[in-house]
Amino acid sequence: MIDRFLRACGLQDVDRTPVWFMRQAGRYLPEYRQVREGRDVLAMCRSPDLAVELTLQPIRRMPVDAAILFSDIMVPVAEMGSGVRIEPGVGPVVDSPLRSREDISRLRRLEPDSTVPHTLEAIRLLRKELAVPLIGFAGGPFTLASYLVEGGPSRTCERTKALMHSDEEAWADLMETLGSSVLVYLRAQVEAGAQALQVFDSWAGALDPEDYTHFVLPTMREIFGGLIDLGVPTIHFGVGTGELLSLLRDAGPSVVGLDWRVPLHLGWERVGFDVAVQGNLDPAACLAPWEAVEAKALNVLRRAAGRTGHVFNLGHGVLPDTPPDTLARLVDLVHERTQRGPS
Ligand code: CP3
Repeated sequence: MIDRFLRACGLQDVDRTPVWFMRQAGRYLPEYRQVREGRDVLAMCRSPDLAVELTLQPIRRMPVDAAILFSDIMVPVAEMGSGVRIEPGVGPVVDSPLRSREDISRLRRLEPDSTVPHTLEAIRLLRKELAVPLIGFAGGPFTLASYLVEGGPSRTCERTKALMHSDEEAWADLMETLGSSVLVYLRAQVEAGAQALQVFDSWAGALDPEDYTHFVLPTMREIFGGLIDLGVPTIHFGVGTGELLSLLRDAGPSVVGLDWRVPLHLGWERVGFDVAVQGNLDPAACLAPWEAVEAKALNVLRRAAGRTGHVFNLGHGVLPDTPPDTLARLVDLVHERTQRGPS
């Protein structure tokens, strides 16, 4: 197995800096759009054969150092009684948002073996096919709660914050149900064969450090703390988290994901050099001509300065208008420019 991704997560020496891309499967690939035609995203996630095919599509195109399971953060939540759909061009939509204690008490706790057997089956099948490590994932409880409470994507997360501040007990209940479900879901993925885990708390950056510490961090500690005995690397990622980076680290992951807004060396300093980091090229830069992409990517590498514990990635997911060839050239660039000589 090509293990430089796992080694970098564990702050071990590597022959080249590992690289993979968040949302490396998806609409920017013509072969994805072909499979997607006429199908529902959650239904694709529930088909082990399609999940395997879609996970492998980017791997066939470019020598990335990790695969990420094709699924969605809303897959487990859909099995918890929330009535979630994914609308093309919009994202997750919930018909009956959770707004009261009664709504929250109706959310069922996840039992992975009986409710997401398709995800676990896809992982088992993928392990037979892959020569690179497979990353399993889940959404962070705050990000999942934001979809459930708002009823859809929200820039401000205002109803979520209103609930948090107006009914601490209901919020604690919601975090407990989501947090314990995320933990068992992630553990089940490792038991099925996932070799690393990422928690996408994409919208955690909507919170200030005080609220994050009080309302979210305890649940994140339970999750990362509850994974330690499995011995797999864990990645903690959110967008707009510049002011939260030391708190994301305090949750206890092996790797902290940096978005593109924070210069990598400054972000790493905030995280602490004794923890690995992942990132952080601006995904929008990948829409520019190659010379501009190359210059931005080399800047990221310069800031990483050859330290162990850097996993190259974008600062958020691949955008649908990204030319596939640009990502393939990025993989080669990172591998070529970071090749370590014999020591
Ligand atoms: O990374 C991968 O290649 C694995 C696949 C993956 C998907 N969703 C498939 C998907 C992963 C890791 C996710 C995670 C996810 N889903 C997150 C966290 C990462 C992030 O971007 O912050 C979030 C917030 C979601 C919720 C969600 N699902 C959004 C915002 C969207 C996009 C809506 C749109 O149409 O722009 C989805 C749908 C979705 N999930 C697509 C894919 C490939 C696009 C569906 C389509 O084909 O229309």
